Amino acid sequence: MNFKTIIEPFRIKSVEAVKFTRREDRERALHEAGYNVFRLHAEDVLIDLLTDSGTGAMSSAQWGALMQGDESYAGSRSFYRFRDVVRDLTGFKHIIPTHQGRAAERILFHTVLHPGQIVPNNNHFDTTRANIEVEQAEALDLVIPEGRVPSALHPFKGNVDLGALERLLAEKGDRIPLVMVTVTNNSGGGQPVSLENVKGVRALCDQYKKPFFLDACRFAENAYFVKLREPGQGDRTPKQIAQEMFHLADGCTMSAKKDGLANIGGFLAMNDDGWAEECRNLLILTEGFPTYGGLAGYDLEAIARGLEEVVEEPYLRYRLRSIEYLAEKLIAADVPIIRPAGGHAIYLDARALLPQIPPLQYPGIALANALYVEAGVRGVEIGTVMFGLRPDGSETPGAMDLVRLAIPRRVYTQSHIDYVAEAVIHVARHRETLCGYRIVHAPRVLRHFTALFEPLSRS
Ligand SMILES: Cc1ncc(COP(=O)(O)O)c(C=O)c1O
Repeated sequence: MNFKTIIEPFRIKSVEAVKFTRREDRERALHEAGYNVFRLHAEDVLIDLLTDSGTGAMSSAQWGALMQGDESYAGSRSFYRFRDVVRDLTGFKHIIPTHQGRAAERILFHTVLHPGQIVPNNNHFDTTRANIEVEQAEALDLVIPEGRVPSALHPFKGNVDLGALERLLAEKGDRIPLVMVTVTNNSGGGQPVSLENVKGVRALCDQYKKPFFLDACRFAENAYFVKLREPGQGDRTPKQIAQEMFHLADGCTMSAKKDGLANIGGFLAMNDDGWAEECRNLLILTEGFPTYGGLAGYDLEAIARGLEEVVEEPYLRYRLRSIEYLAEKLIAADVPIIRPAGGHAIYLDARALLPQIPPLQYPGIALANALYVEAGVRGVEIGTVMFGLRPDGSETPGAMDLVRLAIPRRVYTQSHIDYVAEAVIHVARHRETLCGYRIVHAPRVLRHFTALFEPLSRS
């Protein structure tokens, strides 16, 4: 029999209770959190879709691997196991562990960037952008035009606009120290990048003699999209596709909190000996010795095992299907979302859903807060609050105003997802009751994490 139902490819061995709260409890909690869901106590959240980063469930094999951790300061066995797994996957010569993805970004950009330089990407994620801007360089987004339109259907909406990249390299090549591509494209809806597009970027980097780095956080989800959607790729394993993608690049930054299936960790990897030496020197200053880079030996073991499990096909089939399942329910109820569904999250189009709230009154915050108050579901604004603040302190609308519902890996079951769909549809049906917000306090960098808000009363 050809089964249509795709089941969770695991059994549950250990459970963690969730706390049910009343609406008035959640209203109070949100008020005390300055209307910023980042400031909530996680215990007061029923279904936490704030991020898929570090929130996944480790397998019994990973928990077992923790006990194999070698905590030697230098040259631990766990480092070599980690290095060999990463090298087998990526082919890169230098493997530098870091405590998470942004540490890899900070070390890379602080080492190679000078003020006034430009780093192109399909879409920079918030930490990538911030780590470039802090070096007084420019983070430039060059995703294809379809990638900027939530409703536009395209199999690889994360692709780089190769024409725009070529023009940039031709006109301002002297200011570009490296080219980046993020797989999958988180800020643009978790959308994949095709192998063909990556080959196109590689060819341009060869032509203009520029190093090419991947932001590889979700390389396995991207590889499975390639297998499903790119002509000629269907018979290959996700690992083979991922390996080819890495081999097209000169290096990568990686947050192992995503497709490393670990709760903490990351790495920076590259082929260039000179850059690697400088990066290791900075690593020693801020992260730790190059064979642990801010991680415990047991973290390195968990990541090594996670990188093996994440490319297994039953896992990836279930992973992508569970996101698509939520998307189908929301689309059927006419809730505007980024289409097609991304690899790790659903992105609600708050700007389309709440036309009464202008971007500078943060429709994404209004929607995220309503979801929490109504149902105890926590998502995150990806829009004007996250991206609207310019380095000079002025504020402009973000390219989109989205609420991301990121699905932690191997954590929630189908009934949790059914509940989330019900919650979103309920809030969407009462959209006219929602109002905008204003910021009462915010830092100048990465303001979305800690900003305080106040609801604007409806006029
Ligand atoms: C595309 C992308 N790059 C970089 C990062 C930063 O990784 P980390 O949170 O481990 O610092 C993230 C995290 O969400 C991400 O999604």
